[in-house]
Amino acid sequence: MNKSIRSKLFVSITFLLIFFISVLWILNNLYLEQYYINKKKNILIQNAKKLTDIYTGNAQDIQDELDRTANITGSNIDIIDKAGNPLYRSFRRVPNEKNVMDNSKFKPDMQPPPDQIKLNQYTEGEYTFETRSDVQLKIDFLTLVTKLNNGDILAIRVPLVSISESVDIADKFIIITGIIIVILGSIWAYLFSKKFTKPILEVNNIARNMAKFNFDEKCKIVGKDEVGQLGQSVNYLSGELNRAITELNIKNKKLEEDIEKERKIDEMRKEFISSVSHELRTPLAVIQGYAEGLVSNVTENEEDRKFYCDVIMNETDKMNKLVKDLLNLSQIESGYFHIEKTEFNITSLIEYVLNKYKSIFAEKNIEIKFELGESCIISGDMVRIEQILTNYINNAINHVDNNRIVKISQIVNNDKIKINVFNTGKHINEESLEKIWNSFYKVDKARTRSYGGYGLGLSIVKAIQDLHNNGYGVENIEGGVTFWFEVDKVNFS
Ligand SMILES: Nc1ncnc2c1ncn2[C@@H]1O[C@H](COP(=O)(O)OP(=O)(O)OP(=O)(O)O)[C@@H](O)[C@H]1O
Ligand SMILES: [Mg+2]
Repeated sequence: MNKSIRSKLFVSITFLLIFFISVLWILNNLYLEQYYINKKKNILIQNAKKLTDIYTGNAQDIQDELDRTANITGSNIDIIDKAGNPLYRSFRRVPNEKNVMDNSKFKPDMQPPPDQIKLNQYTEGEYTFETRSDVQLKIDFLTLVTKLNNGDILAIRVPLVSISESVDIADKFIIITGIIIVILGSIWAYLFSKKFTKPILEVNNIARNMAKFNFDEKCKIVGKDEVGQLGQSVNYLSGELNRAITELNIKNKKLEEDIEKERKIDEMRKEFISSVSHELRTPLAVIQGYAEGLVSNVTENEEDRKFYCDVIMNETDKMNKLVKDLLNLSQIESGYFHIEKTEFNITSLIEYVLNKYKSIFAEKNIEIKFELGESCIISGDMVRIEQILTNYINNAINHVDNNRIVKISQIVNNDKIKINVFNTGKHINEESLEKIWNSFYKVDKARTRSYGGYGLGLSIVKAIQDLHNNGYGVENIEGGVTFWFEVDKVNFS
């Protein structure tokens, strides 16, 4: 509180008041008396001038003017000739006072009478001033003496009775009014400084909140003065800062997401490379082993040699498939791959694919059911959609159980057709449902190895559907598993 503007303002205003009142008091004490005497002197000089001017007139006029002046100014006036004989004397209708000449024939520089003490005497131009103290009356007098035109002497005397008393009274009055002014002034200063600093404190408070990133509070200062403008500026600043920080936060979040995405992609790339090298290592080792066997001629008979060659060719085929699938996947996922959309009959395509598989189904003793609905035209990349069908059907053949049923159905909606490939068999566990769409992911490794799968088929499906902007998925349903994908229906209107 000690250093606050409020207390500084309060203390300064109070001090200023005390200072002015003290100055007033000092001036009163030092100069009021002098000022009063000067004023009196001026009045005496003016009267003297006036009397000098009229002194040429008749005696009655002179006497009248003397009386008038004496009564107005409260002075006693005497005019004496050069020899000191009184010529005129003012008559005052106020309590009787001794005239200048009562005690003596007045002459400048004369010794004061015994009951009067001469305090000082000085000459200013044609006027001589003299201050005397009347011991008996206890009154000070100021007397002006000047020569009139014909050499007669004019003396005007005024009492200085009240001045020192007046100074005392004024002193006391100044002290009393001073105390009242200081008290009232301090109250006013307190209220004013409070009112003055309130908006500043408000702005300060808001600035502090801003430093804590709290931009909810706004200045409610309504004035149009500098503080009001400051409040508005702070409000504007707060709004802009809020906007900037929000924007920055959003960008920061996006950047974090991008970094995370980048990190995941990098991780996936590493995983991918390690998976590919892992998948290649096994067939390469087998090929190497059997090739060395052939070279060292471990086997004598033709049949065994043929077996060795078959194994090598089989492994080569597998590697070939892997390389092809990989190329296929990387091509689709590259970002440069464009699907070639055409309009074609999806029902016919399914029938065509199933026709190709006919012998395989027969050979594997699998019952194939195709629930033919209405014949539908769709829009999409036919080669790729055939690839999806093939991958789903291959998987169904590889995972069908002893019930040996594969069922294909289509559900027609407004602008999409959902194609389901169902096979009887074991459910896929919950946590694998998401992961099977990643490359090289296999739920049951042993089983996948038995049919020579690499875990790439479904990731190819995912990549193709992403390019088509269409959905895909898998559901465990009663008795088996259904894989589905959507295609764009063409509506003829
Ligand atoms: N119809 C299905 N029933 C049960 N599990 C399945 C079925 N289809 C796929 N899976 C599981 O999903 C995994 C990934 O399938 P995906 O088609 O991607 O690879 P794959 O068939 O093993 O090999 P590839 O397709 O590359 O020859 C499979 O290894 C298998 O574990
Ligand atoms: Mg597959």
